[in-house]
Formats: sequence, structure tokens, C-alpha cells
Amino acid sequence: MAESQLPASLRERADRVLDASPLVPVVTIDDPAQVVPLGDALVAGGLRVLEITLRTPYGLDAITELRARHPEIWVGAGTVATLDQYKAVEEAGGQFVITPGSTRELLDYGTRATASLLPGVATLSEMMEGYRLGYRAFKFFPAEAAGGVAALKAFGGPFGDVRFCPTGGIREATASDYLALPNVAAVGGTWLTPGDTLREGDWQSVTRIAQYSLQSLQSAD
Ligand code: 3PG
Repeated sequence: MAESQLPASLRERADRVLDASPLVPVVTIDDPAQVVPLGDALVAGGLRVLEITLRTPYGLDAITELRARHPEIWVGAGTVATLDQYKAVEEAGGQFVITPGSTRELLDYGTRATASLLPGVATLSEMMEGYRLGYRAFKFFPAEAAGGVAALKAFGGPFGDVRFCPTGGIREATASDYLALPNVAAVGGTWLTPGDTLREGDWQSVTRIAQYSLQSLQSAD
């Protein structure tokens, strides 16, 4: 597809989310009481994009709650695997949808959806399906297992106009290696919200991890 024929909104809307924050916490809510203090702690730590997974039954309500409480940030869903889930995220007020992999059904719906889609891919062949429909931003998952920094560097050769948000196996110490690549817009991961820290309700540590991780990126520049 020629650049001039791309659905402009598809690309621009994905860019707006990816440009809002270099780090995206992948958050799974195990207890609805965590939603408000966790959201507050992440925002206080400087994060501006929250990916709430649908791995527990609390994800959708958490999205609605966080959207109302923090209208200044981007709140969307991760681990979206079906069209029904995609539509439920839109009803819940989610602003974006991230999928672990790509299906034609999700890709098609994403071109006309209210919540912008960041389709998951692990290979160039998968990416090319989305590329054909006009997508220029993808989640690269599982990043470390699928080739990591070296793979993304190689993807940049034939597809220099595509941006990625790698997740899967990335930690604070390796985030800057990914972000140093010109085709990496942001990186995501669960290291920003460690399970034991959440269980203990240690919200100050959540804020500190976010702050420290963002600062580490600046010092790696
Ligand atoms: C995701 O869905 O992006 C991953 O579960 C994040 O992977 P991580 O736990 O290795 O950060």
C-alpha cells in the first residue's frame, strides 16, 4: 500500500499512544482494591500509558475506573485475543488494544475501531499481514524469545517505516538497549509492577520502580 493511501488515523492514533511514554507497564489486576492505588502510584512515577491485561476478570472494570480517575493518561487493554474482548474493551472506555498475536479478524476490526490496535507479531510474515492493511506499529512479542534487539534491528532493514513496542522478557536493565533502536517507540513489561509488591500494597515501591526505570533511560541517552 502506498504511503499516501494509508488510513491516516490508523497510523497517527497508534503513534499518539506510543509517543506518550517510552515505558508501558503490563498490569494484571488480581484484586479490584488494587486498581486505584496502583494507578495512582504508576502515574506518580511518571508513566503515561497503562496496559491492563484481560488475564483476570477485573481488567475491564479497572480500565473504566482508571480512565475516569486519570483522564490525562492513556489506558488500554492487553492480552486481547478475540473480537468480543476487543468490543468489550471499547465499551469499557479503553483507548487502545494490544494483542499477543494477530488474526485477520482482529486486524480488520482494528482498522475501523474506536480503540486503536497495536497488533502482536513475532515474525516479519505476521507483520506483513498487518502492514498490508495499513498498520505501521506493532507489539513485538515475545521479544526476548523471538530474537530480541538483534531481530528488531534486522526488521528495520526492509521495513524502516515500522515502529515496534517490544514486550516479553524485557527488564529495567535491558529496556534502554531496545529503546536505542530507531524503530522502537516504547517497551512494555511486567517488571514495573512486580507481583509481590502489589500483593503487599507497597505503592511507594511501585512509584520508585517507575521513576528509576525512566531515569535509567535518560542516563543511557
Ligand atoms: C506481555 O503480555 O506483554 C508479557 O506478559 C510481558 O512479559 P514480561 O512478563 O516478560 O514483562
